[in-house]
Amino acid sequence: MTFDYKVADLGLAEFGRKEIRLAEHEMPGLMAMRAQYGESKPLAGARIMGSLHMTIQTAVLIETLTVLGAEVRWVSCNIFSTQDHAAAAVVVGPEGTAENPAGVPVFAWKGETLEEYWWCTEKALRWPGNSAGDIGPNMILDDGGDATMLVHKGTEFEKAGVVPDPSTADSEEYAVVLTVLTRTLAEDGQLWTGIGQGIKGVTEETTTGVHRLYEMHKAGALLFPAINVNDSVTKSKFDNKYGCRHSLIDGINRATDVLIGGKVALVAGYGDVGKGCAESLRGQGARVIVTEIDPICALQAAMDGYQVTTLDEVVGIVDIFVTTTGNKDVITADHMANMKHQAIVGNIGHFDNEIDMAGLYKTAGIERINIKPQVDEFRFPDGHTIIVLSEGRLLNLGNATGHPSFVMSNSFTNQVLAQIELFVRTSDYPTGVYVLPKHLDEMVARLHLDALGVKLTELSKEQAAYLGIPVEGPYKSEQYRY
Ligand code: NAI
Repeated sequence: MTFDYKVADLGLAEFGRKEIRLAEHEMPGLMAMRAQYGESKPLAGARIMGSLHMTIQTAVLIETLTVLGAEVRWVSCNIFSTQDHAAAAVVVGPEGTAENPAGVPVFAWKGETLEEYWWCTEKALRWPGNSAGDIGPNMILDDGGDATMLVHKGTEFEKAGVVPDPSTADSEEYAVVLTVLTRTLAEDGQLWTGIGQGIKGVTEETTTGVHRLYEMHKAGALLFPAINVNDSVTKSKFDNKYGCRHSLIDGINRATDVLIGGKVALVAGYGDVGKGCAESLRGQGARVIVTEIDPICALQAAMDGYQVTTLDEVVGIVDIFVTTTGNKDVITADHMANMKHQAIVGNIGHFDNEIDMAGLYKTAGIERINIKPQVDEFRFPDGHTIIVLSEGRLLNLGNATGHPSFVMSNSFTNQVLAQIELFVRTSDYPTGVYVLPKHLDEMVARLHLDALGVKLTELSKEQAAYLGIPVEGPYKSEQYRY
């Protein structure tokens, strides 16, 4: 079989396949989806373009989607997050060989440039024409919203008949996006409109991507329905929290091997990700300080026993800084100039603008010393240095391998259910942003209990009647916050 793909090295596929085999055992939710839907193939006819960190766990997701009947093309949603052995194994597929790959087209490798990243995204969105003459996917599975954004921006420019000028972009990355759009508009002025019209829906993985979707919907610009997977309870209250609790310190350790115990760590943001990060740093014996803008989250942090103050107050005493806000300019170049010698600075939020890297690069007299891939020391004119992880991009995927399989099984089971919902029951979802119904959320949790030896108490009929809920659930109202 021949198909297009671009990964680092197909020779890594065997290693990838071995790790996929181990991961499958740790992903009971995804394996249950295969058992339940492998024969009926509800995704037959689906052409899913996925933009989500190309890791071993994602490989199990991709292969679950194909077992359910989908055709898939995939990219990573971050330039540093691909695990090259996972990408290779997915291209080769369970039945193929490095010489004769028979898997799924993947366009992803660790350490892409921004130009390569957007090339990959465009490539995966452009389905090679088939007999029906399709030009794009009919489903997107997104993480952070880059694929969705490209289709929307392209459509917007095409409809307005405007060719964008990359020199007007407000960031280096957006200039790259505009360059892609300028070229494709010159090639075919209806490309993105056509792709947008063919898409039945998108399922979005993360807080930042969901935020973008609600903004587009509010502005009346959303082109197709979306399922907000992030706000399934079994996603954000697990992956964002327990996943980061695991992978934050994994990233810091692999990058620096600095002893965390006894150090002062600062976590900016005390949402789901911040809660997991603060707990993991405290678990290592760090004295953790939290910053927040939201009084409720600030109060939660205080009651959980953390000092809550502003970054300006403590910038000179902190050893490890972690941003988790999904906001921009949280750590400025000025903050970095005032940090302790060899302070570690990292971000675990979705985009790299939480730390003002552009401002840091522009600081006069600064020297950048690369220690190893994704670890850089910056020396200020006064001689002090700071250590920046993954150039300010999410460090748990740049410096380590992201969240472990078991927690991703929860997130990705929600993704599979959301893809089925939008693909099969398209007419039930007029353009808008939805969350999965609670019974499916509870089902995802249920699928993960046995593996942990959890014995669930069953409601009696009388108890169910007393509480006014069905014996089989859902057990909580929509307002319940967990
Ligand atoms: P969230 O909305 O629950 O939490 C973010 C918190 O940051 C909020 O409580 C907000 O009040 C606070 N915040 C905003 N601006 C701030 C500022 N200037 N200073 C201090 N605090 C501020 O969002 P969640 O789910 O915790 O996600 C955070 C980010 O992490 C998002 O970008 C999300 O996409 C990303 N994410 C990354 C993962 C990873 O594996 N690296 C996994 C899951 C989410």
